[in-house]
Amino acid sequence: MEYSEKVMDHFMNPRNVGEMENPSGVGTVGNAKCGDIMKVYLDIENGIIKDAKFKTFGCGAAVATSSMATELVKGKSVQEALEVTNKAVMEALDGLPPVKVHCSCLAEEALHAALWDYAQKNGIVIEGLKEPVDDIEHLHDLPEEV
Ligand code: FES
Repeated sequence: MEYSEKVMDHFMNPRNVGEMENPSGVGTVGNAKCGDIMKVYLDIENGIIKDAKFKTFGCGAAVATSSMATELVKGKSVQEALEVTNKAVMEALDGLPPVKVHCSCLAEEALHAALWDYAQKNGIVIEGLKEPVDDIEHLHDLPEEV
């Protein structure tokens, strides 16, 4: 399987790994097939994403895509952040092998779940944002090592 240099860079050297205290929004999603879990934290001030962090119990492509996704949303408004789709993330990474496309979807879903959480907490509507289908926040105990 061929990975681009950018994917390798974000996998070996992921940006924004970690947790956040008192995030404005947090979303956790999982992929039932591969069993991978992704959690995204957002710090939002006046509708602008100041900071983003992620934790994943997932594969290398999941690490690389969430690293890139969190980089791309920083400085964007919550509305603009919706444009950071899995396609946009894949493009920014110069592509992913077809069997790894779902990993970028997991990154997008976690980001959307975090935005949804923020919108719910603040009673706002982010146009075009749908309620996350597989938010697994109730399983919030991620394995220790992630
Ligand atoms: Fe599941 Fe990559 S194999 S997220």
